[in-house]
Amino acid sequence: MPDFTPSGAFDDALLARASALLQAGELVAFPTETVYGLGADAANPAAVAKIFAAKGRPAQHPLIVHLAETAALARWAKAIPPVAWKLAEAFWPGPLTLVLKKQDRTPMIVTGGQDTVGLRIPAHPLALRFLRVFAARARQDGVAAPSANRFGRISPTTAAHVRAELGERVSLVLDGGACSVGIESTILDLSRFAARGAEILRPGALDALALAEVLGEPPRLRTEKSAASAPRVSGSLTSHYAPTTPLRLLEAAALPDFLAQQAAAGRRCAALSLQAQPNAQLCRTLPDDPVRYAQGLYASLRELDDAALDWIAVEAPPMGSTWNAIHDRLRRAAT
Ligand code: TXA
Ligand code: MG
Repeated sequence: MPDFTPSGAFDDALLARASALLQAGELVAFPTETVYGLGADAANPAAVAKIFAAKGRPAQHPLIVHLAETAALARWAKAIPPVAWKLAEAFWPGPLTLVLKKQDRTPMIVTGGQDTVGLRIPAHPLALRFLRVFAARARQDGVAAPSANRFGRISPTTAAHVRAELGERVSLVLDGGACSVGIESTILDLSRFAARGAEILRPGALDALALAEVLGEPPRLRTEKSAASAPRVSGSLTSHYAPTTPLRLLEAAALPDFLAQQAAAGRRCAALSLQAQPNAQLCRTLPDDPVRYAQGLYASLRELDDAALDWIAVEAPPMGSTWNAIHDRLRRAAT
């Protein structure tokens, strides 16, 4: 597999093959700047059904449609408030998913039966190139893609992770190296903008403060309670992004004692921390910086999970709005 780097050296034959597979109703995994996606032709309901089968994902969980250009917004969504165009202008390509009223032609299987659709243009150069090649060849410009993991598990941030998760369930994995962002996009619901304003359904790589600059006010964060009547987001399930090994989230000060107690009781612990943890059987450290922490988070959790020890003990990272998305993922990964 060629090594795709942001330099723009693309293997056109491979991209043509990837596009042909999508056009034939097959699944192709591809890198985005956030995590790897499992793609299907969004206009082909039978192809989209294969995504749900490959992931083991319940049918009512909607998929994000990935677009090659901003103008495509109007082909997948309708009643688009002007602020959506402003946000697209400011943050696309990038880690922001906009939820809007779906266009009539947008298949129900993509939206999990809802009348809204999630849309984004990813920033990874290989993803953009792939989406453009597909749009040109298929005369159709949407690729439905959830994260390329089995339902409820850790999102993949390398092509090898995708293979480990999905194996033969996916026809082709485009290898774009390790994802530069490492956690999923921020999901912003604009589908009821006139009545409720903009609401964050899932905190993510794009900070609420950056959104506030364009929105003119900070978006509301939809909590589980206020979500009762709202669109379903599987990323908002309390147990999600989870390793197989039980995971405990602990304050920094409590972690060494927990590890010592577990070791004394003969239990083997993996640790994820900002510093080395001598009492852990296996330890991964991540930097005290939310951007670099996010880059390494899922690969580290995956490695610790693969060791199949008794616990994964995770040091709660610092508080503060720039760490929100990371806290969100760790809470959902915890048992
Ligand atoms: O960064 C990302 O968003 C990655 C990359 C591949 O683009 N995708 C991703 O997809 O994380 P997925 O399916 O794993 O998570 C997308 C979330 C799901 O929780 C889904 O329920 C929600 O987006 N979603 C999609 N369409 C929606 C809609 N119409 N209304 C509410 N939530 C929606
Ligand atoms: Mg996912």
